Amino acid sequence: MSDTDNHADWWRDAVVYQIYPRSFADSNGDGIGDLRGIISRVPYLAELGVDAVWLSPFYPSPLVDGGYDVADYRDVDPRIGSLDDFDGLVAALHHAGIRLYVDIVPNHCSDQHPWFQAALTAPPGAPERDRFIFHDGLGDDHSLPPSDWRANFGGPAWTPVGDGTFYFHLYAAEQPDWNWDNREVRDDFLTTLRFWSDRGVDGFRVDVAMALSKDLTDPLPFAEVEQIPIGPEHPFYDRDGIDEIYAEWREVFDTYDPPRVAVAELWAEPSPRKARYATKRSLGQAFFFDLLQAEFAAVTFKRSVDNVLSWVKQSGSSCTWVLSNHDNVRHASRYGLPEVADDGDVWATSDRDRRWRLTRGTDPVEDIERGLRRARAATMFMLALPGSAYLYQGEELGLRDVADLPDDVLQDPIFFRDPTFNRGRDGCRVPLPWTLEGPSFGFGSGSAHLPQPSWFGAHAVSVEEGDPTSTLNLYRQALRLRHDFRREGLGEELRWADALDGALHLVRPSVGWHSVTNFTADPIAWPGLPTTMLASSEPWEPGTPLPAETTVWFNEKGTVDDPV
Ligand code: GLC
Ligand code: CA
Repeated sequence: MSDTDNHADWWRDAVVYQIYPRSFADSNGDGIGDLRGIISRVPYLAELGVDAVWLSPFYPSPLVDGGYDVADYRDVDPRIGSLDDFDGLVAALHHAGIRLYVDIVPNHCSDQHPWFQAALTAPPGAPERDRFIFHDGLGDDHSLPPSDWRANFGGPAWTPVGDGTFYFHLYAAEQPDWNWDNREVRDDFLTTLRFWSDRGVDGFRVDVAMALSKDLTDPLPFAEVEQIPIGPEHPFYDRDGIDEIYAEWREVFDTYDPPRVAVAELWAEPSPRKARYATKRSLGQAFFFDLLQAEFAAVTFKRSVDNVLSWVKQSGSSCTWVLSNHDNVRHASRYGLPEVADDGDVWATSDRDRRWRLTRGTDPVEDIERGLRRARAATMFMLALPGSAYLYQGEELGLRDVADLPDDVLQDPIFFRDPTFNRGRDGCRVPLPWTLEGPSFGFGSGSAHLPQPSWFGAHAVSVEEGDPTSTLNLYRQALRLRHDFRREGLGEELRWADALDGALHLVRPSVGWHSVTNFTADPIAWPGLPTTMLASSEPWEPGTPLPAETTVWFNEKGTVDDPV
């Protein structure tokens, strides 16, 4: 990386590409993506034009939750590579001018973590147990759980260990929660942050960032807990104690030059408290999933953007935008499903998405063309916004979810906890297609750990590279233009210009960049539209009506006249 790139604020408007390591590229044909696979694709990432990569967990793990059950925070899963491979990846990315975020999972570990194993063999009350959250069972023989709390993946949140005590887990039983009141736990995480920072990692994505501080001494009934707003009174979400934890992390980050950065995974309801995580004293940036949860409509998109803009004002951080990630139905599928009210569910964006996954994509029926058309328009809309944009591997190929994976290949614990409720998130984690040929479309020389459908071939990188209208080429073009504007001094200002009903027109005044989106299902006759277009998500002849569900970019010369 050149010195000029070494500025401390690089993250504020970075385009970050999320890699789910097991499903990106497999270098040795065992069906599992690995670090060497990623190294071999660094030129692809460079050509795509991303500023940073975020690696989902690659640590040793029994894979009860796709690697979010970490057995060793300071090593690489041997199925994915070695620490040497990791160093090679850092070097290759940095050489290409790409920074690296790793995922840090501080709320819970794997039940195979040596400290949890030590806790299990230690007697109740032993210091080894204090690193986790153990509680006596209720009833004369202590056989009843301390409370009726449900875990986020379904099932009870307390699991007995056979001696009258139970341990707490917000997620699967194989993911025991850490006790963040324990000094050893805190210090061990600081060691982990230094370990990866010393190896050249530029930033951290912090999993379940608002749950670390807990008070479970006297658990209330679950029905009552659900009534408590997240915040100081809640037993485990967004308590005040969290500030102190991240202040210690910040001290570590700031010992590096440039300071290491972090982004909090937060699903908090809009709350002024949310800004705390994104200040300079804390993690520095926080995810906003507003856009990901918004239906494809001008009103909801504008509301989401305005929300995020007002929240970042309170923290001094920059905006974050996400349309897809490893936890949600890919946006090309989501936008192909009929609109319904969103219930804000975390694990599938809404009841509709969950029903769609449960019925393997038969109910409601996905409108494939429409989903992709809207996804392309939404992506261009997002990339024109101020702040950083997080892309999820495969969205640049226009990939949809694979809804019809057979039961016997599914891996997600959400499915195993309750198959009648949700088929889980595997549909967005199917390995990428790189070529039309080959046993796993070029993912590796063998089969892939989740089977790819035949339609993946049409989305292969090699196919899309050769098609000027492909989604891959649209992403490349859009990221190139965004870079150009950045070089001209893009800044973070955004202005809404007047737009016709069902459309949005945003302007980045410092560089004269205009983005116009028609969210409606019909072409809009917009006589004032200029003829100097930079890019469009669907073929468009300037001077003709703006096609349905399409975004077009203009530069200042192409300033759109007021709509007539
Ligand atoms: C986060 C991750 C998700 C994981 C969960 C528990 O929300 O994004 O994939 O299952 O945390 O670690
Ligand atoms: Ca492999």
